[in-house]
Amino acid sequence: MFSCLIWMFVLLCSSIADEKSIRDADIFPSSPEIERGSTLKLFCVLGKHYTPHRNASHIIWKLNHELIAQENYNIVNETVSSVTIHNFTYSKAHVKCFTKYLGKKQLLVHTEVKSGFPPDTPGNISCIYYFDTELTCTWTSGRETNLMTKYTLYRKMMREGRVILQNTVACRSKTESCSFYYPDTPYSSSFCFQVKAENVLGEASSDCVPIPLERIEKFEPPEILSVKKIAGIKQLLTVTWKMPEKIIPSQDLICQVQYRNLYSNSSEFVTVPLSSGDRTGSCNLTSLWDSTEYSVAVRCISAVSVFWSEWSRGKTASTEEKAPSEKVDLWRVIESSHSAGSRSVHLMWKPLNSFPPSGRILGYKIQYFPENNAALKMTNISTDKKITLLLNEEAYLVSVTAYNSAGDSPEAILRIPPADEKTSQIIETVRTFTTNEEVVVEWIASEPEVTKYVVEWYEELETDPFGRSWQYVSDSTNWKTNKKNFKPFICYNILVYPSYGDKLAAPCSIQTYVQEKKPSEGPVADTDIPGKNEVTVKWKEISKDKRNGFISNYTIFYKPEGGKELNETVNADVLQYRLKSLQANTQYTVYIMASNNAGGTTGEPKTFKTLKFDKEDIIFIALPVGLSMLFLLGLWITCILKKHAFKKVCWPDVPNPAESIAVEWPLNTSMNNSFLKAVTSEAKTVDFEDDIRSQMRSALIPAKELLPIETLEDDLCESQQSSIKNEENVNEVLKLEDFGEKVLFNPYLKNSVKTREFIISESLPEHSKNEPQSQSTVLPPFQQNVTGQPYITLDMFGLATAH
Ligand SMILES: *[C@@H]1O[C@H](CO)[C@@H](O)[C@H](O)[C@H]1NC(C)=O
Ligand SMILES: *[C@@H]1O[C@H](CO)[C@@H](O)[C@H](O)[C@H]1NC(C)=O
Ligand SMILES: *[C@@H]1O[C@H](CO)[C@@H](O)[C@H](O)[C@H]1NC(C)=O
Ligand SMILES: *[C@@H]1O[C@H](CO)[C@@H](O)[C@H](O)[C@H]1NC(C)=O
Ligand SMILES: *[C@@H]1O[C@H](CO)[C@@H](O)[C@H](O)[C@H]1NC(C)=O
Ligand SMILES: *[C@@H]1O[C@H](CO)[C@@H](O)[C@H](O)[C@H]1NC(C)=O
Ligand SMILES: *[C@@H]1O[C@H](CO)[C@@H](O)[C@H](O)[C@H]1NC(C)=O
Ligand SMILES: *[C@@H]1O[C@H](CO)[C@@H](O)[C@H](O)[C@H]1NC(C)=O
Ligand SMILES: *[C@@H]1O[C@H](CO)[C@@H](O)[C@H](O)[C@H]1NC(C)=O
Repeated sequence: MFSCLIWMFVLLCSSIADEKSIRDADIFPSSPEIERGSTLKLFCVLGKHYTPHRNASHIIWKLNHELIAQENYNIVNETVSSVTIHNFTYSKAHVKCFTKYLGKKQLLVHTEVKSGFPPDTPGNISCIYYFDTELTCTWTSGRETNLMTKYTLYRKMMREGRVILQNTVACRSKTESCSFYYPDTPYSSSFCFQVKAENVLGEASSDCVPIPLERIEKFEPPEILSVKKIAGIKQLLTVTWKMPEKIIPSQDLICQVQYRNLYSNSSEFVTVPLSSGDRTGSCNLTSLWDSTEYSVAVRCISAVSVFWSEWSRGKTASTEEKAPSEKVDLWRVIESSHSAGSRSVHLMWKPLNSFPPSGRILGYKIQYFPENNAALKMTNISTDKKITLLLNEEAYLVSVTAYNSAGDSPEAILRIPPADEKTSQIIETVRTFTTNEEVVVEWIASEPEVTKYVVEWYEELETDPFGRSWQYVSDSTNWKTNKKNFKPFICYNILVYPSYGDKLAAPCSIQTYVQEKKPSEGPVADTDIPGKNEVTVKWKEISKDKRNGFISNYTIFYKPEGGKELNETVNADVLQYRLKSLQANTQYTVYIMASNNAGGTTGEPKTFKTLKFDKEDIIFIALPVGLSMLFLLGLWITCILKKHAFKKVCWPDVPNPAESIAVEWPLNTSMNNSFLKAVTSEAKTVDFEDDIRSQMRSALIPAKELLPIETLEDDLCESQQSSIKNEENVNEVLKLEDFGEKVLFNPYLKNSVKTREFIISESLPEHSKNEPQSQSTVLPPFQQNVTGQPYITLDMFGLATAH
């Protein structure tokens, strides 16, 4: 039993030994490093495991993946083969040793070989000294050796220019820098620094370079204690900072203060000399901008050193504020009067655009009073950039100032005209067009002395008065803005107001799309009761939010069952159309397409069937029947009443020409005629109406047989008819019809109509009072209709459109 265990142990051991012998091949030297271009010689030792079947003559060699030629092999003895590689120039390669036995290759062992160069003499030694903490030197090693190279930095003490071997300290490194931590540096002594580089191929030492520690001293960054303004002194900040603890004593110091305001990229610097004992430094930064935040940092250097400290952490502070120097950019939207004679005036303004900005605006002061009674001045404060005032119908002056801790800005003043003021139309035409990047608005003014304008723009369907944008334009009659300020496929109202001081004259407006796409939906077709050969097709305008462009025309498509589709195109102001020459008793399908510049969209179709007979047909059939009936009736009545005469007529006893029935007959015929007339005139009424209508049609639009619902040629200012085609898109003009709709939709635009009127009565009295005729030439035509009215109401638009 025990011997059995021993045997098992022996077998186990021998098998482990066998396992080991499998790997029992060796290559040497292992991982050699040789000089580039020299000759490499390697030996491969075959383990016992391989004998006796295989011996050294079965060994083959590879360099990376290339077989090495046989002539470079050398069989040393039964188990050892060597290989010789001349001019080894790989920086790194693998040499592998295989056995080749019975045609099978088996990898035995491999090694990595590197080639490189002996080190150059290290140079450019430089050191930085953090007092009492760290002494770090760096150097350059010249040519890349490709081999593992170690460096030793020696710090040697010098006395009277000569190196003393005692007290030499060494620092070892595998890179081109090495640090002594907490170096023992009696600062009275001077040192030189030497670097030795070594690798398997050799070693090289630099000279010992003397470096005075004071020259290489570098401080920790100083710490800013405070950056403060001094109460009452403008444009000044005082900076104080603490010097770092560890500084070689008795050297003069220099600090540099860097400061930069938040609006500029570049910094300014102030140099502050300190004496050796100073623990803190301070300086005044002067001629700064008012109400501006500055960021400050400090760094210091010993007067004899070459290394500045790093910059301290930055600290920011603001200079004393100055009252804002610029007016706010003020605008208003005036709503129509409420029933109680009061009206909402929406004021809005933009932040001050002064540079440098005026510090932290704490709020805005809004003051307003009736123009003729400054004693009734009211003041409101707002932190918002808008306010709605409820004013009566008198003229008001409103002013807005911005204030900060130092005071108020100058006032921005606007005059709110009285509700009944009339002004003349100074701007004759407005047009808009787009270029690749920009939307351009151009206008022509009849009074060249006006040099300031306000361009106001907003989405047609915008109802929030504060949703409007505006810009003052000086000394120019055009205005450009980036297309990005306008959404595509949305109709914008653009108004241009001439501005005199704080007064505004009547605006001229135009509508525009910066980009169009085809309508989102088409009009739904509807028809009257069809006739035999004709029918009137009707449709409604598409809602504004679905138009995506100006509708230029409608096309009516109609098609008899199984027949060919026909179409007719009508202007955009036409909303019904009479189709003629239809086939009787036929089913038709009709649908409408609304087109804008970008394309057309068709709406829901409608089917209808034409009649077999029309009214004339029925009359034509009914008339002979009726006539015969009447004749028979008349005959019968005659027979009853004049039986005797009848008898005589039928059977005349005595033929008597004197007693003729000629007296009776005319009665009958006239009766017949008047009855006939009654019937036919009833039938004719329809025709007559048709005739009138078609005459009206042809009078209005002679070229086409159209039925316009309304054609309103009246425009606000001439611009609105004369949009000139040019560049890419020229917009259509805003017609009164549109304008009326807008007023219906949006009460604010109506105010712009009102404000138009005040120039005549206020600014240009000679125009309005002495020359009423000239007034009518400048007033838009629809206003002429209502001359004497304080302003135009919705009802008047209704009247105007009803004409
Ligand atoms: C073969 O040569 C190597 C080195 O020269 C030697 O160490 C080894 O003992 C030799 N082997 C035999 C079997 O002679
Ligand atoms: C190596 O083995 C081969 C046969 O496989 C034999 O011919 C040769 O003599 C042997 N060489 C040595 C040195 O033993
Ligand atoms: C060594 O090889 C390199 C390129 O591989 C060649 O330029 C050089 O002449 C060779 N040197 C010798 C001594 O053969
Ligand atoms: C020292 O540095 C310079 C420039 O940085 C370089 O041109 C020169 O070769 C360097 N010297 C040594 C010995 O590395
Ligand atoms: C500040 O730098 C940015 C980019 O670095 C540059 O676009 C801008 O013009 C610079 N401003 C000033 C005032 O130099
Ligand atoms: C900074 O200016 C104030 C006020 O003029 C003065 O009192 C202070 O001494 C100045 N500080 C320095 C460091 O110049
Ligand atoms: C303006 O101030 C008056 C009191 O001075 C106040 O009654 C009124 O509500 C304020 N209006 C607004 C819009 O804040
Ligand atoms: C309208 O009909 C004419 C022929 O009558 C045809 O040439 C034209 O293409 C049609 N228009 C449309 C928009 O289908
Ligand atoms: C209808 O309007 C479109 C888009 O403006 C235009 O291309 C087309 O020629 C117009 N059709 C007619 C018949 O005028």
